[in-house]
Amino acid sequence: MTTPLLNVATLRSHFPVFDQTLPNGEPVTFLDTAASAQKPRVVIDAERAVQETHYANAYRGVYQFGAQIDDELEASREAVRQFINAEDRSEIAFTSGTTMSLNLIAFGWAARHLKEGDEILLNRMEHHANLVPWQQVAARSGAVIRYIPLTENGQLDLSQLDSFLTEKTKLLSVTGMSNVLGTINPINELSKRIHEVGGIIVVDAAQSVPHKVVDVIADNIDFLAFSGHKLYGPTGIGILYGRQELLAETNPILFGGHMIDRVYDDHSTWAQPPAKFEAGTIPIVQAIALKPAIDFVNEVGLHTLHEHESELTRYAHECLNKIPGMHIYGPPPEEKGAIISFTLEGAHPEDLAHLLDRKGVFVRHGHHCTMPLHDFLKVSATVRVSFGAYNTTDDIDRLIGAIHFARERLRLT
Ligand code: ALA
Repeated sequence: MTTPLLNVATLRSHFPVFDQTLPNGEPVTFLDTAASAQKPRVVIDAERAVQETHYANAYRGVYQFGAQIDDELEASREAVRQFINAEDRSEIAFTSGTTMSLNLIAFGWAARHLKEGDEILLNRMEHHANLVPWQQVAARSGAVIRYIPLTENGQLDLSQLDSFLTEKTKLLSVTGMSNVLGTINPINELSKRIHEVGGIIVVDAAQSVPHKVVDVIADNIDFLAFSGHKLYGPTGIGILYGRQELLAETNPILFGGHMIDRVYDDHSTWAQPPAKFEAGTIPIVQAIALKPAIDFVNEVGLHTLHEHESELTRYAHECLNKIPGMHIYGPPPEEKGAIISFTLEGAHPEDLAHLLDRKGVFVRHGHHCTMPLHDFLKVSATVRVSFGAYNTTDDIDRLIGAIHFARERLRLT
């Protein structure tokens, strides 16, 4: 068995959820981080501390609690700015998650700027949250959606990019990392190519941000979306990043308190970004607790995390490939992030997920919000395992043991 590259024994101890044994005596083998990551104690403590000691609404009260909340929210915004290397804090808006951020870009910017015949460039590995809003924008604006073909390995077929990028291509939206195949997309190159034809790039960084460094300046990213809960942070909080010029020409899509400059009887004007996109009471506690999550990731180091997860991915591929009837989708381990989706001949993914659960092994099954990708793969469902900071090679050994248990139960041996 290989030795993990970082002291995971210590790292795992930061996550209280693992301090338990399941009712059937099994330990928790959590292999669903791509859906949502477990929370380190610092994040749980930060949420509790705000609520126990100085909770108040944000950006509304000058009293002590209100002022402290405002300071902590801005400290969190600043942590996000540094984390993705944005130029200015005003480029970081708090949203409810990646889906809301992408909808904001689609309806606040694209629906306003795209017209009949313009082209939106997507691909079939995208999550529904990065497909359906664009279909809606296309239906309303008359823009056309085109799909960059995928290779058999589930990577973008860049050899065909030339024929897809024309002066009609106004927007390319792409995931930093596939939530099913683990495919890591070449954002820097895509950004260069779309800018050459005068379009903009939108990056769905929900899966990539927890695993690899994202630098919006180095990669010349126009819009970027991600969620706190996949980054070891709370649920209900997400980030919309947009270059200042683009946010200035993006309409709000939620209207109400805090996002206005002046309200008259018959019309209103908007506050400057990011307030323009933060109507109503934002998820205050969650936004504040995003900072300790980012601090935690920074402390471990994204490079270290990436190496650790790559080692787990490589080891898991090696072990899974020895199982008869195993079919893994997507690129080889060295070309992807910490996500592995597979099918096992003779086992329905849902049955397999149930049987793995009996051994305390938690995986996701289904289409993972990527129906067009599953159509491309010619399967209706897969089983997905995904790794985070707290996983170890022991987790993979338990996964393999549980698959053998399932094979016996399903009489596949
Ligand atoms: N987008 C999340 C996933 O892939 C929920 O599971």
